[in-house]
Amino acid sequence: MTLSKLFKFVYGYMLFKAFFFSLKTRVNEVDYPNAEYVSMWRSFLRGFRERELKRALNLVLENSDALSECSLEIFDCFDRSSYFALIHPNHPNVTLGFIKDSDLWDIWLKDCFYKLVREKIADLIGIGDDVKILDLGCGSVSPSFYGELVSSNGIYTGIDFSKPLLNLAMARVKEGRLSDRVNLIWNYVDSKLLFKRRYDIVICSSVLQYTNVKSTMQNAVRALGGDGLVVVFSEVFSDVHKDYLNLFNLYYSLIPSFKVFPSIEEIRNCVLDCRIKVRDHIALIEISK
Ligand SMILES: C[S@@+](CC[C@H](N)C(=O)[O-])C[C@H]1O[C@@H](n2cnc3c(N)ncnc32)[C@H](O)[C@@H]1O
Repeated sequence: MTLSKLFKFVYGYMLFKAFFFSLKTRVNEVDYPNAEYVSMWRSFLRGFRERELKRALNLVLENSDALSECSLEIFDCFDRSSYFALIHPNHPNVTLGFIKDSDLWDIWLKDCFYKLVREKIADLIGIGDDVKILDLGCGSVSPSFYGELVSSNGIYTGIDFSKPLLNLAMARVKEGRLSDRVNLIWNYVDSKLLFKRRYDIVICSSVLQYTNVKSTMQNAVRALGGDGLVVVFSEVFSDVHKDYLNLFNLYYSLIPSFKVFPSIEEIRNCVLDCRIKVRDHIALIEISK
C-alpha cells in the first residue's frame, strides 16, 4: 500500500463527510457562533461541485484496500469534531489537542497512517547499526519504534512539546529496555536548539504543519552539522497535493496548533545546498556542506 493510494482514499472519504456535513448543518445559510469556522466552510463550499462526489466515489472504490491497512479513526474524529467546532473552537468535544487529548493521539499514532509512514521511512533510510537519528515532533510511538532499529550502538533523540505524549513514549522505551540509546527532550522544535552531538538523519514526520518551517529546518541542518539527510513526511505538500489542500485545511484547522501545510518550495528555500527527492508524500532532503 502506497501513501498516495491511502490519501486518495482518505480524500474521497472526507469529501463525502464534508458533503453530508453541509447538508446536515446547512452551514451555507445558517449562522453558528463560531463565525470563523463557518466562513472557512462557506469558502470551501463555494469551490465545491457536486460532480466531484463522483470522483470521490471512484477514489474510495479504487483505493478501498486502504481500509485494511490502517484505522481511519482520526478522520472520523475530524468529522465529529467539526460539528462541535461550529459552536466554539475550544468546545470540549473537539478532541484533537496534542496535550489535552494525548490519549487519543496515542491511539492514532499507533494505529492510523502514522504507523505505515514510520515503516516507509525506516525502509527508505535503511537504518544501519550505529546511526544517530533526531526526530523532531516525535510523539508517543516513534521513539520505541526507531529505538528498536538503531541498535545499542546507535542513538535516537526525540523532541516534542507535549509532555503527556513524551511520558507515554518514555513508558514504552522503558518497557522495551531501550533507555541506553533513546533520549527524549521536552521542547519546541522551532525554538533555537543546540545539540551536543552530530546526527546522521533528522526525521520530521507530520510535524511541519504545526511549526515555523524555517526555524525547524534550521534546527535540522544544525543537528546534522550541515551534512546528512532530512526526511519529511506530510499528509499534504501544498505545492504537490493541490487538489487536497482546501479539504485538508478545513479539517486540520481543528487541531489547535495547526498553521499551514508546508510546500517543497518553502523547504527548499530554507535549506540552500540540498537535493530534494519527493515520492509518495515523503521528501528526502540530502544536505551537503
Ligand atoms: C501528528 S504528530 C506526529 C508524531 C510523530 N512524528 C509520528 O509520526 O508518529 C505531531 C507531533 O508533533 C508535536 N509537535 C507539534 N508542534 C510542535 C512543536 N512546535 N514543537 C515540538 N513538538 C511539536 C506534537 O506534540 C505531536 O507529538
